[in-house]
Amino acid sequence: MERKKITIVGAGNIGATLALLLARREVADVYLIDIDEGIAKGKALDIMEASPILGFNSRVYGTGNYEDTANSDLVVITAGFPRKPGMSRDDLLFKNFEIVKSVTEQVKKYSPEAFIIVVTNPLDAMTYTALKVSGFPTNRVMGMAGALDAARFAYFLSEKTGISVENIRAFVIGSHGDDMVPLKNYTTISGIPVRYFLSDEELEKLIERTRFAGGEIVSLLKHGSAFYAPAASILDMAVSILWNKRKIISCSVYLEGEAGEYYGAEGLCVGVPVVLGKDGIEKVIKLELSDDEWTQWRKSVESVKKLVDKLPL
Ligand code: APR
Repeated sequence: MERKKITIVGAGNIGATLALLLARREVADVYLIDIDEGIAKGKALDIMEASPILGFNSRVYGTGNYEDTANSDLVVITAGFPRKPGMSRDDLLFKNFEIVKSVTEQVKKYSPEAFIIVVTNPLDAMTYTALKVSGFPTNRVMGMAGALDAARFAYFLSEKTGISVENIRAFVIGSHGDDMVPLKNYTTISGIPVRYFLSDEELEKLIERTRFAGGEIVSLLKHGSAFYAPAASILDMAVSILWNKRKIISCSVYLEGEAGEYYGAEGLCVGVPVVLGKDGIEKVIKLELSDDEWTQWRKSVESVKKLVDKLPL
């Protein structure tokens, strides 16, 4: 069977880690592309030299030329500047806007049928940028955020309760920033609501840690931001689409029509639960939220709107 083709734009920490994860699972052949061609080629070669030991047959190629990426099934955009200590994701807005815009123009030209997963921050505004610049249908462009935020929340819950991460299903919606909305009412441990395991106060502490989990890593690393868990989250989304798994994953998607009206975020990209399958975003799930969660959600939407309004689109 012919393998799928995935292009990863940006062969930095997230891009290269993702290339290795995709190759190990033989999800696709991978093209790593970077403005620094040597980095893309060097990391691709290094990964391929691990293949005899790890035993995978997928190929990872490095390039600086978009022609090599032609007709990709999926393009992941990680190109951009990561955060430095003391910077918020929003501080990256204009620098990364220019990068995502120029990358998306190339994706549109060379892979007009691809799905796009945006990773560059500020995530929701950059997803909106990729959608508008590509002109792709809304089911094919999405941002990776909720998968990562939920994984972080799940890990903290596992650490606190001592129960396997495999049993934990955490849910986070809203913007990928400090205004994200972790949903304790939809978070379960082996199907049992999490409130059976932890007090409100304990849960609130973990929710707070989840909101600032990206920043916690940035301050520890000092140079750069998180990349192992982000790469794993992208892998989960890519596999759900390319293998038509139809998993429910929270992603930043363009809200319009009935869903846009329901969530009160018409015309913006914000994180909500969706079904990811062979057609990309196949369904937006509407959730009943408590009054408090609606208040948080609206704040989250406002913060995305503020950024998007500044974009020269
Ligand atoms: N085209 C291609 N690659 C580019 C471009 C561009 N126009 N501009 C920058 N890059 C490359 C850089 O050369 C670098 O190799 O993007 C890569 C980014 O890698 P890292 O700095 O290691 O960043 P990473 O940790 O992978 O994060 C990528 O995800 O979390 C977000 O905000 C974060 O925007 C950052 C992105």
